[in-house]
Amino acid sequence: MVVVLLSGSINHINAQATKANVPTLKLNNGMEMPQLGIGTFAISYADAKMACLEAFRNGFRHVDCATAYRVEGAVGEAMKESGIPREEFFITSKLWVSDYADGKTLQSIDTILKRFQTDYIDLLYIHQPIGDYINAWKEMEKAVASGKVRALGISNFDASDERFHAIVDSMQIKPVALQIECHPYAQRNDIREKVKPYGIIIECWYPLGHGDEGLLSDPVIKTIADAHGKSIVQIILRWHIQEGFSVIPGSKNPAHIRENINIFDFALSDEEMTTMRSLNKDKRFFNMTLEQLDRMASRRF
Ligand SMILES: NC(=O)c1ccc[n+]([C@@H]2O[C@H](COP(=O)([O-])OP(=O)(O)OC[C@H]3O[C@@H](n4cnc5c(N)ncnc54)[C@H](OP(=O)(O)O)[C@@H]3O)[C@@H](O)[C@H]2O)c1
Repeated sequence: MVVVLLSGSINHINAQATKANVPTLKLNNGMEMPQLGIGTFAISYADAKMACLEAFRNGFRHVDCATAYRVEGAVGEAMKESGIPREEFFITSKLWVSDYADGKTLQSIDTILKRFQTDYIDLLYIHQPIGDYINAWKEMEKAVASGKVRALGISNFDASDERFHAIVDSMQIKPVALQIECHPYAQRNDIREKVKPYGIIIECWYPLGHGDEGLLSDPVIKTIADAHGKSIVQIILRWHIQEGFSVIPGSKNPAHIRENINIFDFALSDEEMTTMRSLNKDKRFFNMTLEQLDRMASRRF
């Protein structure tokens, strides 16, 4: 094993130790995205930086972020301190509603770039299908043209069929990904079918049910976990990977972060995948109607 150390950079990461065999997904614009990433929702700035550094040390290169999480700066600091070349990372953010259109979008993208300490964002999502999302998307397309953003995605556009089609069928640049809540208790079969003709991948938020105790102690998953000598969480993440999703579990616990990437040395059998699929009960852990989302349009970050 080759250990690369740069003087003065104690966090510099051993390049050999970080491959971790994370597969990539080919996006509909030709880019490759590491299938597993780390999420950064609902954690403090300090925890987000620590979690990213621990994740990078163990092979994660994909980070899911958003302006609304207020930790883009922490991700940027962790990328810089890691000493890992920028091109190894796949960094996403999500444009918040108060930054949609009206002359604000391009300026907000520049602010995100500053916080990430980088000159491009790999994938920029539009966070919610509310407000002036159409003109925001057109501005995001300009950021792609200028090289500041490499791919565009839609987040939570499962909330409205009309708004989904307004982007997917009518805009010049098609989304590469749709980010939605998805886990074994809500497997989202309808929306998965809907994105197929467009070659849009599904990226799962709340992939562990946001830590739901019932899901993380499910007896059926426990039986599969015991058969593989793995944890329930590892089986859930492995199921996501074998379903072809991109998956972005969040954690501020270093042991959990290491556990969450240790899923590429085994596989679930067809029978086990069938058993996992049988757990679907369309149970969402985050429920918000389009009307409630529309009311969020005035929130500022
Ligand atoms: N687009 C959107 O609107 C949207 C909405 C929500 C989330 N997201 C994105 O999706 C990401 C994932 O969602 P999430 O973080 O809310 O929920 P999640 O990944 O489903 O679950 C996170 C919870 O699981 C626990 N956990 C993680 N690994 C574990 C392990 N190995 N063993 C036991 N517990 C474990 C974490 O606790 P510990 O910290 O103790 O490990 C945390 O409480 C977010 O971070 C964010 O990037 C996007």
